Amino acid sequence: MLAIRRTLYSLRKYSSTSRIYDIKSLLKNQSINQKISVNGWVKGIRKQKELSFIDINDGSSSQKLQIVVPTEKIPPGVGYHTSVSALGTLQASQHKGQSVELITEVIELIGGPQIENYPFKARKRHPQDYVRQFLHLRARTNTFSSMLRVRSQAKLAVQEYFNKEHFINIDTPILTANDCEGGGEVFLVQPLFAEVGSQASLSTKYFGHPAYLTVSGQLHLEAMASGLSKVYNFNPAFRAENSQTRRHLAEFWMVEAEEAFLSGPEGLQKLMNRIEDLLKTSLQCVLDKSEEDVSTHWKQNECTEELVKTALSQPFIHMTYDEAMTLLQENSQHFQTKPTLGDDLGKEHELFLTKHAGNRPVFVTDWPKKTKAFYMRQRDDNSDVVLGVDLLLPGIGEVAGGGLREDRPQILRKELDSRGLIDNLQWYLDLRTFGGGAPSGGFGIGFERLLLFVLGVDNIKDVIPFPRWGKHCSC
Ligand code: 4AD
Repeated sequence: MLAIRRTLYSLRKYSSTSRIYDIKSLLKNQSINQKISVNGWVKGIRKQKELSFIDINDGSSSQKLQIVVPTEKIPPGVGYHTSVSALGTLQASQHKGQSVELITEVIELIGGPQIENYPFKARKRHPQDYVRQFLHLRARTNTFSSMLRVRSQAKLAVQEYFNKEHFINIDTPILTANDCEGGGEVFLVQPLFAEVGSQASLSTKYFGHPAYLTVSGQLHLEAMASGLSKVYNFNPAFRAENSQTRRHLAEFWMVEAEEAFLSGPEGLQKLMNRIEDLLKTSLQCVLDKSEEDVSTHWKQNECTEELVKTALSQPFIHMTYDEAMTLLQENSQHFQTKPTLGDDLGKEHELFLTKHAGNRPVFVTDWPKKTKAFYMRQRDDNSDVVLGVDLLLPGIGEVAGGGLREDRPQILRKELDSRGLIDNLQWYLDLRTFGGGAPSGGFGIGFERLLLFVLGVDNIKDVIPFPRWGKHCSC
């Protein structure tokens, strides 16, 4: 006890005169011969009679710092993934794979001692579906913490792109009165009143009408674009689809953009150019800034690097829905569900199209009206076809959906009427009926699906900190 107290005292004494670095800046600045304090978790420990070598990592990067410490100074209980604080002098290292090491004078155990039933073992790569059982502990594993750093960087890269292109960031509401996509996959929101009543009536009681968690911020973005021209959001979206797939979540993040003054097939072309430019610029930025974390993942799934580099270096492929359907029907022997003209595409069809395109991303445009939502702009020359677009990525399938918006009030009114939406969405119709409305187009990119693509991760639940899906929302 006395020894521990003495150690703590000496660490605090030194800490007040030394700088506390995160390991990323420490390895970058390489302040040789300086007195330094670091905090981190033990990732490896080799004890020898006189000296011991402990690898620590603090999550600031995937890199570890080796601390060299007299074995007798290691407090009892230090072991795999215990947290420690160390103080010493940074020196150039002779060891392979590291440029510096900390010659440590004082080491303190911060958290409790190592416990026996800790679910993760040192130097063992656990399968992701095992790691997923411990959502609250997964940030402590190398692969998942790598993913989280890439996710953070990707979010920043998307925001930087929009900022550079003069898009205004809009916080669209989470509580809404509409089901933007019309798929009926909304979560109903209600207060927790201790009153007896039907689900719908409790929600209605609070707001005066049913309210839902948003499935998309698009309609609200359109309202903002009618005054600001170029807008975007980066929000959670919620869908009560109970599909237990590796591509769906009940709560996911969507990057949505809306741009005014886009019309006709040229407008749709500009929209696709925008999506392609956004993806290429932000993904390249992620590769540049998160090289090590990305390569940690690429090593686990070898074809990913080539897919991502092809997507970044080659133009995306464009085809109409009819062209895609012809191709699919010519190859219908490959599919479990036969492709049917007029129907939406299934995942197997989407994957076939990107593979057929030489593993390049594919835009599919000009969709049958009945496959898309009420807001899609009908073509001037064929009102059964809408100027919508889906972007398909190799190995993933659909990553983005969007298109031009119906800007003719009489047609929009008819669409809203025929779906019984007119009362709820009168405000949306106003955007077209009041002077000053301008034709616009936009898109939404599923952020988690984009991460699946860039990292080659197989399951969407492994690219979001706390995934929510059917029967899973407890942690
Ligand atoms: O194609 P979606 O439904 O398009 C919209 O929501 C439009 N209102 C967007 C817009 O134009 N502003 O969804 C866009 C993308 C999909 O392509 C997919 O990547 C992702 O959102 N997505 C999901 N991701 C994870 N889990 C789910 N349940 C998802 N549903 C859609």
